[in-house]
Amino acid sequence: MKFRPFESGFLEDPYPTLARLREESPVAKVGISPLTALTLARRFARMRRDAGEPGLARTAWRAWRSRRSGDGPHNHRAQGRRRFPRVFAVSRYEDVTEVLRHPEIFSSKAMGGMEDPEAEQFHPTQGSLIGIDPPEHTDHRAIVNRGFTPRRIAAMEPRVRKLADELISAFFPRRRCDLVEEYSNPIPVAMIAELLGLPAERRDDFKRWSAALIVGSTQIGSQIHTGLFKEFREYMSQVVEQRRREPGDDLVSLLVHAEEEGGILDAVHVVGFASLMLAAGSETTTNAIGNALLALQANPEQGALVREDPERRIPALIEETLRYDPPVQMLMRLAMEDTEIRGVEIPKGAMVLPLLAAANRDPDVFSDPDRFDIERNTQGHLGFGLGNHFCLGASLARLEARVALETIFERLPNWRIETADVTRHGSWLIRGPTTLPLTF
Ligand code: HEM
Repeated sequence: MKFRPFESGFLEDPYPTLARLREESPVAKVGISPLTALTLARRFARMRRDAGEPGLARTAWRAWRSRRSGDGPHNHRAQGRRRFPRVFAVSRYEDVTEVLRHPEIFSSKAMGGMEDPEAEQFHPTQGSLIGIDPPEHTDHRAIVNRGFTPRRIAAMEPRVRKLADELISAFFPRRRCDLVEEYSNPIPVAMIAELLGLPAERRDDFKRWSAALIVGSTQIGSQIHTGLFKEFREYMSQVVEQRRREPGDDLVSLLVHAEEEGGILDAVHVVGFASLMLAAGSETTTNAIGNALLALQANPEQGALVREDPERRIPALIEETLRYDPPVQMLMRLAMEDTEIRGVEIPKGAMVLPLLAAANRDPDVFSDPDRFDIERNTQGHLGFGLGNHFCLGASLARLEARVALETIFERLPNWRIETADVTRHGSWLIRGPTTLPLTF
């Protein structure tokens, strides 16, 4: 069986397809359209060069262009070269964890920002933490870890609570809201801005920038995104300069200081890291909150359990949501050598997709995995990934989601989602509602 994430119906409910993959083709070839293959090829131009396969992205680009312009068939195959990179999806828990534990074979270069060889445009996260491997990753991560100490994160709780309360007060008199737009998105965006020490007045800009960063991770070439990336980069570069002159108690100052100590982070790294935080830390948390509420509405007996004891059960609700319907459905890795998984040959330069969402429902690890059960043992779920790239913001995400959900249960105890009006992200990499009409 081939994995075809573009088939209709997949985005609404990917889980039946993921279950079939896990059972029938645990290491499956991915069937993607030529345009998507082109996007991937261009996105990964640099990393494929790193894996020793020069020229593939350009070959793919020319093949696609000539097909569109009717130049006739391209004979790259006759020249013995593949037009598009091969892509494999891995769905069993054991294999997904194996891939994530071996960055020397399955490199994270595939997670770096995209590169567009034609337009020479750069995604701001290019070269940042998420797209590099040990030993460089180890040093870089040690520095940014200093900004995520349990004390620093725990100290944010009163501000998250205050913001959640204020946001609810703003829409409360209407007795309805779009929870994504008015609540679950503003909270993580504001908290990242705060961690970086950026002023609240720029909150609307951050929303625009973070949305562009997310969309820009899966699409290329949009002038709008290029403009927004540039805007964000310029703004952040000014912030870096300002913090160099007047350091504060924020992450940018900490990183700039690390650079001055002779660390490895220069201004470009700091800007890249700020972009990564916005891209990785906003929409994901928003989706976790939305997916939790959708799962509760579909399983009212679980909602009743939460209402009985919100303080104790909301943390369990968050973990079960991250297992059952994770905001990050899959990751990307690049094969650095010819290898093999479960007897399937993976050539050097191929892309490998560890399907977190499929592994999280592997019956060998989680019994009755398709049941949403906040009382189950969720230990070992892969919602935050695994290994050296395990989510840097996991404790912040847990804090934000917990406070956001506690405040909903406290102030809007009779909330209800008008499910007919929910819309979802059109991406197979991230999952969650883009609108969540709530009445209460
Ligand atoms: C529920 C919300 C979140 C989910 C589901 C999530 C998920 C993930 C996953 C699966 C990875 C692993 C990527 C890989 O292995 O390639 C990751 C990495 C990362 N996450 Fe999160 N994340 C969330 C929230 C956050 C927040 C709030 C922040 C920061 C403010 C953040 C920052 C990062 C960073 C910087 C990395 C890269 C770490 C590294 O490369 O060492 N995430 N996240």
